[in-house]
Amino acid sequence: MNESHEFRLAQRMRGIAPSAVREILRVTQRPEVISLAGGLPAPELFPVAAIAEAFARVLATDGGRALQYGVTEGHGPLREWIASYLGTRGIHSSVEHLLVTSGSQQGIDLVARVLLDPGAVVVTENPTYVAALQVFSAHQVKVVAVGSDDEGMCVDELPALLARHPARLIYLCPDFQNPKGTTLSAARRRRLIEIASAHRIPILEDDPYSELRFRGVAPPPLAALDEEGLVIRLGTFSKILAPGMRIGWIHASPSLLPVLALARQACDLHTSTLSQHALVALFQQFDFAAHLARLRAVYGARCDAMRAALEHELPELRIVQPEGGLFYWLELPAPVRDDDLFAEAVRQNLAVVPGHGFFVGAEDHRFVRLNFSRQDEATISVGVARLARAIRALRDPREAALPG
Ligand SMILES: Cc1ncc(COP(=O)(O)O)c(C=O)c1O
Repeated sequence: MNESHEFRLAQRMRGIAPSAVREILRVTQRPEVISLAGGLPAPELFPVAAIAEAFARVLATDGGRALQYGVTEGHGPLREWIASYLGTRGIHSSVEHLLVTSGSQQGIDLVARVLLDPGAVVVTENPTYVAALQVFSAHQVKVVAVGSDDEGMCVDELPALLARHPARLIYLCPDFQNPKGTTLSAARRRRLIEIASAHRIPILEDDPYSELRFRGVAPPPLAALDEEGLVIRLGTFSKILAPGMRIGWIHASPSLLPVLALARQACDLHTSTLSQHALVALFQQFDFAAHLARLRAVYGARCDAMRAALEHELPELRIVQPEGGLFYWLELPAPVRDDDLFAEAVRQNLAVVPGHGFFVGAEDHRFVRLNFSRQDEATISVGVARLARAIRALRDPREAALPG
């Protein structure tokens, strides 16, 4: 059989680059490699026994409904749970505001589908979540970006940018941003809402990480500050429970919900009914608050361990410690480039994510992203020592020959 037929691909697939992060995950399959790359939660913290019990209970007591087709918007009791959870975050929500998704990645895609025509402009922060850029590219929209600093998106740059590029959507990850780990300050949140309101532009608030805060005070969610239904907020259980559940949600104005549901029906009808029923069963018997407290304690300790290792191994670098989330964003010493460092780090059995893929427009090769959730503290220290060795090898090639 000759299966070499050359398919003529749709225009929308031509500009779409593979996610560097997904490609890197291949390298991390090798057992000798320490991965500080992907944004993976720690599997030893998944509540496996409680999830197994919840699935078993649902199948034993309500198997017929749990295995049947369900409504596109999602299982009612799960939407009720999410609505009341969002209420605790100061967000006015109800089942009419909610569509359950198979993770927030799907939420980005659905929002792009319903709001963005080909050629429309979306504004992001720079750098930004690389897989959101993939979505925007697949929908053939034009992405323009404002800069960011330690307080997140530089929202004061928005009015001038919006005057040049009338935009249809502002996308950002305000809490413990991927890749930088930074959080948008409360003052900038208020300013962003004002600007979006003045220009009548919806904001897509992508929030996988805000529950993973281990120090400092949480600023209000953008959706809690919004009084006009302009903020569409994405949430997910991926980082706070287990990504394999594939359950997230879109909270949006009830006027947008039916359109999102229509778009959803065209791709996969609904999120797994079994997973949704199991999640509701889990919450009936599981101390979720205690689980979150444990995640925060473990990730906080790992974040501290990474900071200590970075300060010890690379004292000349500026380190901005995140108050939560999963990532450090490291500016490399000149003349080290991120892709050279990636190659050298792999030689030292270490995986990190080169930063250039997160940038809109001109690629910037001065950064790498480091994840601290996946490895324990001792492994993080060894990983950072390998990183320092790789950096030294690139700054002074004689180092490369030294035994590690
Ligand atoms: C900013 C951001 N948005 C969305 C996602 C996708 O998460 P999910 O597993 O809910 O699809 C991620 C995952 O890393 C992320 O970092």
